[in-house]
Amino acid sequence: MSLQNFLSALDSLQSEAIATLDAASDAEAFEAARVKYVGQKKGALKDIQKQMGSVAADDRKSAGMRLNEVKQAIEKAVAEAQSRISGGGESGADPTFDPTLPGVRPTIGHVHPITQTITHLTEIMGRMGFEAAEGPEVEDPHHNFVALNIPEDHPARDPLDNFYLATAATGAEKQNVEGTRLLRSQTSTVQIRVMANRKPPIRVISLGRVYRPDDPDATHFPMFHQMEGLLVDTHVTMANLKTVLRVFATNYLGGDVEIRFRPSFFPFTEPSVEVDFLWDGNWIEFGGAGMVDPNVFRAVGYDPEEVSGFAFGLGVERLCMRRHGIKDIRDLYSGDMRFLSQF
Ligand code: FA5
Repeated sequence: MSLQNFLSALDSLQSEAIATLDAASDAEAFEAARVKYVGQKKGALKDIQKQMGSVAADDRKSAGMRLNEVKQAIEKAVAEAQSRISGGGESGADPTFDPTLPGVRPTIGHVHPITQTITHLTEIMGRMGFEAAEGPEVEDPHHNFVALNIPEDHPARDPLDNFYLATAATGAEKQNVEGTRLLRSQTSTVQIRVMANRKPPIRVISLGRVYRPDDPDATHFPMFHQMEGLLVDTHVTMANLKTVLRVFATNYLGGDVEIRFRPSFFPFTEPSVEVDFLWDGNWIEFGGAGMVDPNVFRAVGYDPEEVSGFAFGLGVERLCMRRHGIKDIRDLYSGDMRFLSQF
């Protein structure tokens, strides 16, 4: 090889190697470039060194001097790239890092008070043999109304009292046609889903979100949670219902909380009661309950002459608020960490 060719090969190797090493942006790219240019076995520098043998003997001295310069320049570029990528000295260690100092605890957040309440309620009811069941939040009128003995002309089905969904099949205003869907307004829908799929005896609770176009105030929110309870067996009485609700309230709220039952009406229970507790001198309603209406049993194919049962639906937010002394339901959903981090 002529000296000129050798020198020009060295020049292009130098500029290519330095450009590649300068451009390497991560450890992988750096390692590939290092092996390619200064690798012990097949590195380009080693390669060109071997070619020096074909340069005329007289020219070898100047060829060798230039080869050394190029080698040093490339090795310098390797060292620079390595220190840049490992972010510091040759070992890659950060000189400002002191492993003997205590660590910085990462902020990982915690479970929302309503989720904590759901876990607690599930645990209390589980001890009384109630197993948790779930149902969808987007429901059809059959499960939200029809099977619960709520006839078509009942005010509870009014579009002003429900979030009907404008599905492809319906307009929001046509709430009684096939394909209608709505956000469930009560967890009683799960009673139907459970009974339709199982045979008595049944002892379930269902905790989940429900939706109503209620104006937010201290005790109302358009999205809230309910705990539904359902027990179906033979010879179930109102006394069983009262006992379960009392044991539940004593466990969750403490024995000093006064509870009362007030006669009421729900289409799916007969007789029905409203369940209140005393809070700051006022009776606050925290749920409805009653004996499962025979029409509901018929809708799911049970014989009301053979089985009986009770059901209840309690407001989870109100229970949580009463236990923790929270005065305004809106605080639970404001996303204010100063409030939420207290729980
Ligand atoms: C019902 O929803 C019935 N499904 C309960 C029931 C179940 C009765 C089984 C009989 C048998 P009601 O609409 O009263 O009932 O609601 C129950 C509870 O949900 C209320 O007592 C209250 O604690 C809570 N609640 C109702 N609306 C809101 C709201 N907008 N914000 C927060 N909590 C609410």
